[in-house]
Amino acid sequence: MDHAMRMRPIRDGDWPYIAALEAEAYEGGGLAEGRAVLESRWRASPATCFVLDLDERVAGYLLALPYPMFRYPDLARTEQPAVRSRNLHLHDMVVAPDLRGRGRGSTLLRHLAETATSTYEHVSLIAVEGKATFWASRGFRAHQGVAVPPEYGDDAVYMSRSLSAGGNAGSKKVDGLPCPVS
Ligand SMILES: CC(C)(COP(=O)(O)OP(=O)(O)OC[C@H]1O[C@@H](n2cnc3c(N)ncnc32)[C@H](O)[C@@H]1OP(=O)(O)O)[C@@H](O)C(=O)NCCC(=O)NCCS
Repeated sequence: MDHAMRMRPIRDGDWPYIAALEAEAYEGGGLAEGRAVLESRWRASPATCFVLDLDERVAGYLLALPYPMFRYPDLARTEQPAVRSRNLHLHDMVVAPDLRGRGRGSTLLRHLAETATSTYEHVSLIAVEGKATFWASRGFRAHQGVAVPPEYGDDAVYMSRSLSAGGNAGSKKVDGLPCPVS
């Protein structure tokens, strides 16, 4: 059976589903922020936040917002109005557990890159819960010197990559975040 998959902007009715996906992904590790905080991240930059809609089901989401390089959201606080920056911070990306490992996360990333490339020069993120290798395989480079607060977990790592041709030196595999981004 063919599935109807599309990326689309977040709508008001999506939030219970986004909050449920977030809780499933992060509550066990104590990293869940909850709906109100997630919504505040989205309000700061709706144009760079999406849901993955699969047969009218919210099957995943991605929240990204401009943040100066080497700065990042405070997990305990709602978001302030966005600041102008050429760096886009990928704050969170989740795919429903039963749909992982089939390229859906890569599709979300590709959509972000296509959306962001005309406005932003870099994408940053904080890899949590052992995901640094996942992000490294998508061209992100760790900045070990950037301190990350304990709220992000013991193994959290600040990472970034360029959106321009060539990406970061040393990037080889860039599934889901085309390199160069066109
Ligand atoms: C991260 C996440 C969004 C990826 O979604 P997905 O749909 O499974 O992504 P894809 O299918 O495009 O890619 C899966 C690939 O990542 C790899 N991968 C998954 N977790 C990994 C990890 N911890 N370390 C290294 N590789 C990992 C898989 O082996 C697979 O590899 P392949 O492309 O070589 O086959 C999904 O695992 C998820 O929602 N996790 C919970 C939330 C989370 O941790 N978000 C990231 C926070 S930093």
